[in-house]
Amino acid sequence: MGGTTLTTEWTIREVLNWTRGYFEDAGIVQPRLEAEILLAHALDVDRLHLYMAPDKPLTSDERSRYRHVVKERRSGTPLQHVIGEVNFYGLRFRVDRRTLIPRSETEELLDQVIKRAPRDRDIRCLDLGTGTGVIAVCMARYLPRAEVIAVDVSPTALSAARENAALNEVGDRIEFIESDWFDQVEGQFDFIATNPPYIRSDELSDLAPEVKDHEPAVALDGGPDGLEKIRQIAAGLQAHLRPDGVVLMEIGHRQGNHAKQILESAGLDDVHVERDIAEKDRFVVGRCPS
Ligand SMILES: C[S@@+](CC[C@H](N)C(=O)[O-])C[C@H]1O[C@@H](n2cnc3c(N)ncnc32)[C@H](O)[C@@H]1O
Repeated sequence: MGGTTLTTEWTIREVLNWTRGYFEDAGIVQPRLEAEILLAHALDVDRLHLYMAPDKPLTSDERSRYRHVVKERRSGTPLQHVIGEVNFYGLRFRVDRRTLIPRSETEELLDQVIKRAPRDRDIRCLDLGTGTGVIAVCMARYLPRAEVIAVDVSPTALSAARENAALNEVGDRIEFIESDWFDQVEGQFDFIATNPPYIRSDELSDLAPEVKDHEPAVALDGGPDGLEKIRQIAAGLQAHLRPDGVVLMEIGHRQGNHAKQILESAGLDDVHVERDIAEKDRFVVGRCPS
């Protein structure tokens, strides 16, 4: 298709088969799935529609829209940036180069907050390093009695988070603060949820180009040993958690023991590491002494 082969009367089935091979050659891991997602996006339909009308030919407008997104994807732009949005915990979020693309592990982190949060009283929740705002927005949407604060050091990330809060109709439920972790944050919280940057600085260059060329370094770089940001956050936890308040932090899958020690040294109780759905150490949880 790349400019020449896709000419007339290509059906949905044909373009998908063609793109699958084209993406496979480029090393894209789920070529058929991505082709379907992009075609559905270009046609402005959901994926199911493609299965219902596989023999429908594309119009020339549709072909040209599809060609554009396929080209973008093949040149290494992350799928989520081509589409411009992700689904996270049942909500839609716009994504672009200003922030990290939310990952499914973070949905698991959020799930832990949602499950633990009481519904029968007012609570205060803090999302440290909000990025696209996924954690804060979901807390506001799913916990009606939560006062939610979202913090980021990056003003551009905060602008993205504000847009996503408005998109999900919780713009007035979240206070956004530009701050170096707790520096500008007042008061204490029942829940602090955070997905800090946790990749070792010397490993950043080994990341896939799709990540290192498209996602901001400030969202990825965890310092020389990957634990620097975890230490910085841990240092402020006791002061900002209410008695019995809980911190839930996403970590790298080899950081469980270190992260646990860091939170214990910061004076938290009941510190333990939890695994993600892939059975990897992924979250460290701790409670402020009562
Ligand atoms: C791994 S991203 C997480 C984004 C989002 N919470 C998510 O889970 O998709 C880490 C976020 O922390 C922010 N960050 C990095 N250093 C920070 C600091 N010193 N203070 C506050 N936020 C910081 C980054 O800008 C980035 O948005």
